[in-house]
Amino acid sequence: MGGKKITINDIKQAKKDHRKLTMVTAYDYPFGLMADEAGIDIVLVGDSLGMVVMGLDGTVAVTMENMIHHIKAVVRGCKNALVVGDMPFMSYNTSIRDAIINSGRMLKEGGCDVIKLEGGTDFAPTIEAIVKAGIPVQGHIGLTPQTASALGGFKMQGKDAAAAKKIVDDAKAIEDAGVFSIILEAVPAPLGKIIAETVQVPVIGIGAGSDVDGQVLVTHDMIGLFDKFVPKFVKQYTKIRPVIIDALKEYKKDVIDTGFPAAAHSFSMSDEALEQLKKML
Ligand code: KIV
Repeated sequence: MGGKKITINDIKQAKKDHRKLTMVTAYDYPFGLMADEAGIDIVLVGDSLGMVVMGLDGTVAVTMENMIHHIKAVVRGCKNALVVGDMPFMSYNTSIRDAIINSGRMLKEGGCDVIKLEGGTDFAPTIEAIVKAGIPVQGHIGLTPQTASALGGFKMQGKDAAAAKKIVDDAKAIEDAGVFSIILEAVPAPLGKIIAETVQVPVIGIGAGSDVDGQVLVTHDMIGLFDKFVPKFVKQYTKIRPVIIDALKEYKKDVIDTGFPAAAHSFSMSDEALEQLKKML
């Protein structure tokens, strides 16, 4: 897909072509640029920003203003990747009217391409209304972090047959409501496979095994920038935090011990100008 803006049709086509989709989170311009340059298909400005950027305990306190601010920055970095704006808690739960107004704000003010919201069967009418208003929606089922306390915490979902069946029903309901793809979080791998085989739209897993249509990870988890806790489903591709801390320590040592900046990092002035200045003082 190199060199052109990725559309929801490309995302849907990828499943038909058996091409795995890649998705990561970004919360600012440099990470948007890097994800785009790496050829990632979908960049999610996730409300996980509450935890990995804002230092909150969860995602519940994240606001529309927080999201729009970060979406604007990411969008400037993403020329090709499809940019997804995550609807924060209570921006779509209060009424269908609120859901449409706030989804519209994400696109109009933030500039993202599509929105994502958490919820299954109960949210099908909301999804249908947003899609009817002309805004593409990505669903998010399984473990839904905004309502994690109601689900008993940040735990795998769909453990027994009845709970698994409910998630399959959620997938079907939101597909019927018009989502263009589904994020499936923290479910047993065999359930991930069943759901990916049941629905026609791409299922992008995070802790849902490898037999789904693509994967998403929180970038700050996979590069080891945020390591307060690392969920089981995260693979750390690098550990960037110690690298950054070492650089900061080296800088501090340089300033104190070796007199940074050196001549190479300093601006010069002609001897003549310097002499003149001294006379003026
Ligand atoms: O907010 C987020 O980063 C997410 C991912 C976990 C999919 O919703």
